[in-house]
Amino acid sequence: MLKAALFVLALLSHSFASAQLSGRVGPLTTYAAKAAVKVCNVLDYGAKSDSSTDLGPPLATAWVACRGGGLVYIPAGNYAMSTWVSLRQGSGAAIQLDGTIIRASDTGGNMISIEDSDDFEFFSGTSKGAMQGYGYKLISQGTFGARFIRFTNVSNFSIHGIALVDSASYYLVFDTCTNGEIYNLILRGIQIGETDGIDIWGQNIWVHDVEVTNGDECVTIKSPSKYILVESVYCNISGGNAIGSLGTGTDISNVLYRRIYANQADPCYLKTNGGDGTVSDVTWDTVIVHKGPYVLAVNEAWGTDRGSIGVQVKNLYYKNWHGYNTVNSRPVIRLECDPDLPCYNITLNNVNLWTADGDYVTWSCQNAYGTGACLRSANNGLSTYTSVTTAGKTYYATSYMPSDLASAFPSTVSFTIPPVPTTFYPDAAPSSKLLSISGPGGLN
Ligand SMILES: *[C@@H]1O[C@H](CO)[C@@H](O)[C@H](O)[C@H]1NC(C)=O
Ligand SMILES: *[C@@H]1O[C@H](CO)[C@@H](O)[C@H](O)[C@H]1NC(C)=O
Ligand SMILES: *[C@@H]1O[C@H](CO)[C@@H](O)[C@H](O)[C@H]1NC(C)=O
Ligand SMILES: *[C@@H]1O[C@H](CO)[C@@H](O)[C@H](O)[C@H]1NC(C)=O
Repeated sequence: MLKAALFVLALLSHSFASAQLSGRVGPLTTYAAKAAVKVCNVLDYGAKSDSSTDLGPPLATAWVACRGGGLVYIPAGNYAMSTWVSLRQGSGAAIQLDGTIIRASDTGGNMISIEDSDDFEFFSGTSKGAMQGYGYKLISQGTFGARFIRFTNVSNFSIHGIALVDSASYYLVFDTCTNGEIYNLILRGIQIGETDGIDIWGQNIWVHDVEVTNGDECVTIKSPSKYILVESVYCNISGGNAIGSLGTGTDISNVLYRRIYANQADPCYLKTNGGDGTVSDVTWDTVIVHKGPYVLAVNEAWGTDRGSIGVQVKNLYYKNWHGYNTVNSRPVIRLECDPDLPCYNITLNNVNLWTADGDYVTWSCQNAYGTGACLRSANNGLSTYTSVTTAGKTYYATSYMPSDLASAFPSTVSFTIPPVPTTFYPDAAPSSKLLSISGPGGLN
């Protein structure tokens, strides 16, 4: 009886990472089962690991051969890619990337676009698969190139075990995806805007054990989204995690960020400017931040276009925060909401934030109701207010990751492909071990 109960529990804990999600995530069949159906090795479709033959056409052909059920295999080696691919209508397919794909064209768009697919896995069997964008070559000239990978309308999927280095633009975009698991990834690039790390909109998605170094979004949720769990994320110099920007018809709810480590990055930034709709039930639980520019912020008026009605923000919960900002001239806690549409039910619980510069910090609240810092009780009704509070030192001492970046990468040289890390938050073990299988689907 007990054994049966434990077994059920194990099954549940595997498929439901948390009550936060609305159901199971990840592919419906394993990569081994897919490989047992069929293997489409790109070398058999004209690819060469010679750093010059274009991987694009062989990859597209291998996909068509395996997309109805099978595994597309890109063995170890260096593959140049100069034609971008749209890989559509997969059902029970996987791509095993054990080699390195090198950007070899300055065209824009998406190098790899996965579309309209179900039961899909993109992974490295050796945990050594990578994409190298040599983005610095364009970025140092003041331009951008293609995004690395975009998933559009993909369901029951995962992506894991890959290093994505120096993209010439965004790294990973998940557009209208459901039931996904995104984990054991390292994204590393130049500290400059237009290099978003992971952008997501969709439903029932678990992001975990990810490290991002860039100059823009770390792991950001866009609209529409619900039931999203983001945990053990290391923003190792990055713009940081955000919700937004938010436009017309915003619909975001049930988002949980947990165990977020931000080194010279913002752990959360909720920004709206005009637009309409709702953001509700978002929690940031257990956060460490070293030198964040904005640290804890809701900003509902960051631009000047205030033409539309505004987004209703409610039910935000900030819990167990430790850290500090860079300069105390910026409020370390900033909850600034729309005068026409105040935020309500915001809770700050055990939030300890200080500054690297000065002997006081400020908190700024505008039209924001709830408990903690400068928030006012909702009993005051929805009247407009602005309040800046000066606060003294709280307990803020906190742990460091073993190897925080001291400064950003230079934007004028290439960088080496790092191994996928095995730690993403102090003292937390990743949820899944890195894979180490040999051959397609581990069949060798
Ligand atoms: C989304 O993908 C599924 C296949 O997984 C397809 O049946 C459906 O038509 C696609 N939806 C849209 C809006 O293209
Ligand atoms: C995804 O998996 C679920 C089972 O968990 C299944 O019901 C659904 O049809 C699958 N595909 C899509 C497109 O949701
Ligand atoms: C306030 O927000 C929390 C989530 O942060 C939620 O659990 C709670 O139900 C909300 N309270 C009300 C009265 O809506
Ligand atoms: C953070 O970036 C630095 C600089 O490259 C690197 O040495 C370190 O390994 C990174 N941290 C982790 C945990 O990967």
